[in-house]
Amino acid sequence: SLSVPSVQELAKKPLKEVPPRYVRTDEDSPIISHSNPLPQVPVIDMQKLSSQQELEKLHYACKGYSLINHGVSTSLVEKVKMEVQEFFNLPMEERKKLWQKSDEIEGFGQAFVVSEEQKLNWGDMFYMITLPTYLRKPHLFPNLPITLRENLEAYSVELKHLSMKLLDHMGKSLGMDPNDMRVLFEEGHQAMRMNYYPPCPQPELAIGLSAHSDPVGLAIVLQINEMEGLQVKKSGVGVPIIPLENAFVVHVGDIMEIVSNGVYPSVKHRAAVNSVKERLSIVTFLFTPQNPPLFKRIGVADYFKCLFTRELRGKSYEDVLRIQPDQETNTN
Ligand code: SIN
Ligand code: FE2
Repeated sequence: SLSVPSVQELAKKPLKEVPPRYVRTDEDSPIISHSNPLPQVPVIDMQKLSSQQELEKLHYACKGYSLINHGVSTSLVEKVKMEVQEFFNLPMEERKKLWQKSDEIEGFGQAFVVSEEQKLNWGDMFYMITLPTYLRKPHLFPNLPITLRENLEAYSVELKHLSMKLLDHMGKSLGMDPNDMRVLFEEGHQAMRMNYYPPCPQPELAIGLSAHSDPVGLAIVLQINEMEGLQVKKSGVGVPIIPLENAFVVHVGDIMEIVSNGVYPSVKHRAAVNSVKERLSIVTFLFTPQNPPLFKRIGVADYFKCLFTRELRGKSYEDVLRIQPDQETNTN
């Protein structure tokens, strides 16, 4: 990725206008105005998820939801919020030491800047892999301020537990056997992204983070201050998610859409900016393990054909579908 200026530093200058590189050319959906009654995303109570009623609510909450009574200690969450805020308050010289190296996404910077012409988001981020610990970059995690590191250490373990519990509930709701959903992700890696969106002189022209779905299993968002900005796309408009006290926002990602066979579609979302005050968030991503696929993708009809010809040829489904080491995969 190309190196781009820090938006945090840029926004410290007295700007009247957003520089052209940050003016979005979005064919993107409008932001619904606050004078309209606000549709809201569902609120799921983790402690009630053993009841059929709450589980059904979870099943249909796939367009993103707020999660309360999630079991992660409030004092830990408060410490993480404070530490992340302070992390972005570090002097630029300190933050520079943790800046993305070229062709890397981990560290401070912006995600996926590939050309000089590309429109930029109005925000800085810090991205890093947190689990398993051997995947942590030696120049990043160990060089974080010690109090941030200690709190993130505890937070990453708590969030791993939380995501596993959520997966158990989602698996149950899909009618899977106990643990079957969990085992898909248990060995997968966890990453975190801290976001900092400075105030913007023309917030309607810029975007903090353009619309996307997360290429992950689950994403668990902690909104760090009271500022609104996160929106999920619902029936073509951006619905603001108002930060609730002691809640996470959970997004279903693309991998979950795939493993649930489309029952849980991934959620399109984005982050808007405002002219009043900075906004911060920290997102925890859960991935599946990055093992190469062992079997070819195949539609049900073709699979039946395979079953049929198998009888004719005396082959097992493994002979037909297992990817041979020298064979091209067409799984993308
Ligand atoms: C995101 O999840 O992509 C953005 C999170 C946020 O800033 O609230
Ligand atoms: Fe996202």
